[in-house]
Amino acid sequence: MLALDYTNVLENAVHTHGIPKIAFEKAADSSKHVVDDVEQAHRNGKLGFGSLPSDESALQSVSNFARSRSYPNVLLIGIGGSALGPASLDAALNHPNSGKRLIVLDNIDPDFISNSLDSISAKDTIVNVIAKSGVTAETMATFAVVRQWMNDALGESKARERFVVTTDPVKGDLLGIARQNNYASFVIPENIGGRFSVLTPVGTLPAAMLGLDVEGVMAGARRAAQQAQKPFFENPALAAAFIQFVLERERAKRILVLFPYSQALWKFGFWFKQLWGESLGKKMDRRGREVYYGQTPTAALGVTDQHSQLQLFIEGPNDKAFLFWDVKELRNSLPIQHPFASFDSMAYLQHKTMADLFHAEKQATEIALTEAGRPNATITVGQINAETMGELIMFSQYFTAYAGEFYDIDAFDQPGVEYGKRLTFAMMGRSGFADYNRKIEEIRTRGRSVIQ
Ligand code: PA5
Repeated sequence: MLALDYTNVLENAVHTHGIPKIAFEKAADSSKHVVDDVEQAHRNGKLGFGSLPSDESALQSVSNFARSRSYPNVLLIGIGGSALGPASLDAALNHPNSGKRLIVLDNIDPDFISNSLDSISAKDTIVNVIAKSGVTAETMATFAVVRQWMNDALGESKARERFVVTTDPVKGDLLGIARQNNYASFVIPENIGGRFSVLTPVGTLPAAMLGLDVEGVMAGARRAAQQAQKPFFENPALAAAFIQFVLERERAKRILVLFPYSQALWKFGFWFKQLWGESLGKKMDRRGREVYYGQTPTAALGVTDQHSQLQLFIEGPNDKAFLFWDVKELRNSLPIQHPFASFDSMAYLQHKTMADLFHAEKQATEIALTEAGRPNATITVGQINAETMGELIMFSQYFTAYAGEFYDIDAFDQPGVEYGKRLTFAMMGRSGFADYNRKIEEIRTRGRSVIQ
């Protein structure tokens, strides 16, 4: 089971930067509504992410499709919540020698797209176009480029069989295009937004096409969803949400550093950054007050960033909370063997393993941060496998949803992102968005201040 160690956020560990133990006792009582509110939103169909692991038929159709269309390359076209989840599953679970490769086109830099397409062959490739809204400019434009590339290589009718679309069940042009072209398609339930969609076909379809253990992911997610209903002291998602809420609001820890000690979890950190940042970064609370909430998520990789950002973390401004993601048992321990015992810098390593060194360095970082009064907590899983990835994903989604309840904001919308999308449509001349051009013109006429 996933565990949360919060020793180093307590006042007796990090003094005035920490949280008194008594506050936890009080929160255990006062936070019951947090779990109830999210549960109630699930019951009335407003939210859907927590119920996904029980949807066996969705999983079945994804697995059947993946079995019937097996290609070495899965080319994913999507952005944000339509890309980061599948990318993190691939990074954590796919083996470099699996014979399956995920290529994620989540940027529209034409050089990046060209280089990515140059690195694969169309005949070995299936293309998964993913967009909840079915209209995102980046995704639609990349789809057009890739469609042409596939048509040129395979001819239109063969190319058509290589496209599979994942989108909203009732709205959006991507759905219309899929129908018009007879592309295979999968749906993202209406009550699940982009960044909460990794356990829908957004994540499960690419994972199944890569041959990953999707049932295992769902089993782990189910376990974490159950754990998220438990009382405070048995509920890591609830306690973690409370901790970050208090650290951000009352201890001014405006930055949350995600610190995985696992290379496999590095991309998961990027998925989490979107989840946390986009869900909690809000101008208005539910009562209509301007609040400008949000804790800025950033990522550091253990041990790599010990030699990069750690100096700042330990001695720089004390404005950060730290969340380590730790793995008890690494897949490999790698014994350290050598004939250099006469050299001090090598002697102590003899008969140890790389895993020993890795774990020791995590502990050293934790101690150094704690001594410097920097509140830090650790999420631990036993190993990295399909089940624990499912657990980490579902835990993170409840963690975020519960934080939204503590802040009393809508954690499931993204008005700032939508506004940016509309400005892009207007600039690119999409009909129906002319009103935004006035704003764009007004800003353009202000001129620019440039030094050359
Ligand atoms: O969480 C969200 O809703 C957004 O970040 C979306 O994932 C992102 O904007 C992409 O949207 P879409 O899937 O509609 O292309």
